[in-house]
Amino acid sequence: MLVLGIETSCDETGVALYDTKRGLIADALYSQVELHERYGGVVPELASRDHLRKLTPLVRQVFAEAGLSLQDLAGIAYTAGPGLIGALMTGACMARSLAFALDIPALGVHHMEGHLLAPLLDQTPPEFPFVALLVSGGHTQLIRVDAIGEYELLGESLDDAAGEAFDKTAKMMGLGYPGGPRLAKLAEQGTQGRFRFPRPMTDRPGLDFSFSGLKTATLTCVNRLKEEAILDDQAMADVAWAFQDAVVDTLVIKCKRALKQTGMKRLVIAGGVSANQHLREQLEKNLQGMGGQVFYPSLAYCTDNGAMIAFAGAQRLAVGQSDGATPAPLRPRWPLTELEGLN
Ligand code: KG4
Ligand code: ZN
Repeated sequence: MLVLGIETSCDETGVALYDTKRGLIADALYSQVELHERYGGVVPELASRDHLRKLTPLVRQVFAEAGLSLQDLAGIAYTAGPGLIGALMTGACMARSLAFALDIPALGVHHMEGHLLAPLLDQTPPEFPFVALLVSGGHTQLIRVDAIGEYELLGESLDDAAGEAFDKTAKMMGLGYPGGPRLAKLAEQGTQGRFRFPRPMTDRPGLDFSFSGLKTATLTCVNRLKEEAILDDQAMADVAWAFQDAVVDTLVIKCKRALKQTGMKRLVIAGGVSANQHLREQLEKNLQGMGGQVFYPSLAYCTDNGAMIAFAGAQRLAVGQSDGATPAPLRPRWPLTELEGLN
């Protein structure tokens, strides 16, 4: 079954073709980073307009790359939420009208289910069940995953998501947008241990997170260095290292706790922050000691992309799920646990 996937929830236009027998066939991505850079963050109206501009050329591109035509499609999957409503509408309109014209089913996919299942695109995918750590710009959640659509929320951030903490801290340090990858890059030059920031909520039981205090701790440190007139490039990198280490250490502690609590050995990390090298290394190191194994998507499929939506949609379309004649409204907010299983 050949499925077209369309992702437009935020600032990346992603389009892909996935076949349930042959796997991922073609994949195209357009990032709006340059468009939003001068504003220091995503401007929703500009994002929607840019998705509209790019969707048709990207759809043409994946079909040309694959040597296939629209008539080969058996279904179309698009991101129906969570995300920016205007941005979601562009992809949904494209997907639903194409599906209507071709007389094939369309299906609205949950963006975070796309992220969660992205490691299954890999050559050696994790087997169910597993614990998933979803770490993106909007979400930080620990989920028990028994099968596709069988999700139990174990813990989540009570305030900022991990990616959001990276972005806000980077902005405050003058690193601009997109902050996460820039801060992570700067941290590579940092000295281990010169500064130390708190590991929020690790000293009490439970699997929830809180990251908003970390940016205040970082700001206080930066201000003190400024006052002492010692905020040079090395000091900035050292602060970045300490911030990243605090986020990563907090995530690692909670992941280990979630594995212990569920008795599971497999951990999947997904979402933009799963691209972070320090997080990957620390998880591998820490899980080895307890006989655990960590799985993550290849770098291209950590951040937003069309392949994960095509894949997640294909799993559901293949068992007959679809929008039907009246699709559900698009959802800026949408708890993952509301999803149904495949049966
Ligand atoms: O999954 P994603 O592309 O979009 C959302 O669904 O939110 O995640 C984007 C987030 C941003 O907050 C970005 O700063 C963060 O992922 N991110 C990173 C890295 N690459 C992306 N954070 C830390 N280190 C990275 N290497
Ligand atoms: Zn995302």
